[in-house]
Amino acid sequence: MAISRRKFVTNSTTALAGIALGKSALGDTVLNDMGNGTLPIVVSTWKHGLAANRAAWAILSEGGYALDAVEAGVRVPEGDPLVTSVGYGGIPDQTGKVSLDACIMDEKGQAGSVCFLQHIKHPISVARLVMENTPHVMLSGKGALKFALANGFKKENLLTPEMKKKWKEWKKKQEARDIINFENRSKDDHDTIGMLALDAEGRLCGACTTSGVPYKMFGRVGDSPIIGAGLFVDGQVGGAVATGQGELVMKTLGSFLVVEFMRNGYSPKEACLKAIQRITKQIPDYQKYQVGYIALNSKGEYGAFSIYPGFDYAIKTNEDDKLKEAESFRKLL
Ligand code: GLY
Repeated sequence: MAISRRKFVTNSTTALAGIALGKSALGDTVLNDMGNGTLPIVVSTWKHGLAANRAAWAILSEGGYALDAVEAGVRVPEGDPLVTSVGYGGIPDQTGKVSLDACIMDEKGQAGSVCFLQHIKHPISVARLVMENTPHVMLSGKGALKFALANGFKKENLLTPEMKKKWKEWKKKQEARDIINFENRSKDDHDTIGMLALDAEGRLCGACTTSGVPYKMFGRVGDSPIIGAGLFVDGQVGGAVATGQGELVMKTLGSFLVVEFMRNGYSPKEACLKAIQRITKQIPDYQKYQVGYIALNSKGEYGAFSIYPGFDYAIKTNEDDKLKEAESFRKLL
């Protein structure tokens, strides 16, 4: 990603011209996609994606199913109390309660989702059961909890002592979190995990799970459990996942939009940029927030884009096990 300032300016100009003019004018230096199409492959959001990818890889490398891989992958940060934006140990809402959102999709377009789910450490596995064992797509709140308990999940306290202490400190100050300056945020302060995997048989599946925006209002649900917003998969075309401020993603149905751009011939990275551009065009106060997308197409090519610098994502293939920073819209300006 290291490029000279002159080249960056040239490429940025080309890219911005492309944004205005459409696909044929998109600069192909800045907007090249990555990946050489070798299967299997798994990509996921943020640094916590590295450990998650390795869990997914244990399944993919044995010829396993992408759906099993993405579920196993995102369960890693869900169960890790040090990941404070997903699952157990997640930052609570204003009332000190941890509520979780998650969804999952398979290569045939089947989908399952849970939102505002409390007390269950692995919402992604509940979402998968909703997909596989019910006629519905989404269960919420008490209904989701009841369904989870009826299916053998254990009721747990998801608020760790460390997080309870932080919440009490926050409550005393009642300060809104600085969600603008993502570059200066703590290295351990990440966000939603979204994961996309393409297995050796070419089956593309995705998963997305989060504890949502820190100190959110009680009852707030974000983009992550919304099919088409936090995650969308079309097994013939590709998949996309979102991270960052969910409200912006919901207002533009971001992941669905990324997949539709890929359906119309855009590469994964171009498609992510165009969905970011939809936000910057349509949402007047977008500057206050960060959003990032990653996309994987059915050929195994991947790409990412974010509003602000600082969004990194993890890639695992036979050759690679790495973290990359996505290019960002604001850096192009
Ligand atoms: N993207 C996570 C959320 O807004 O809840």
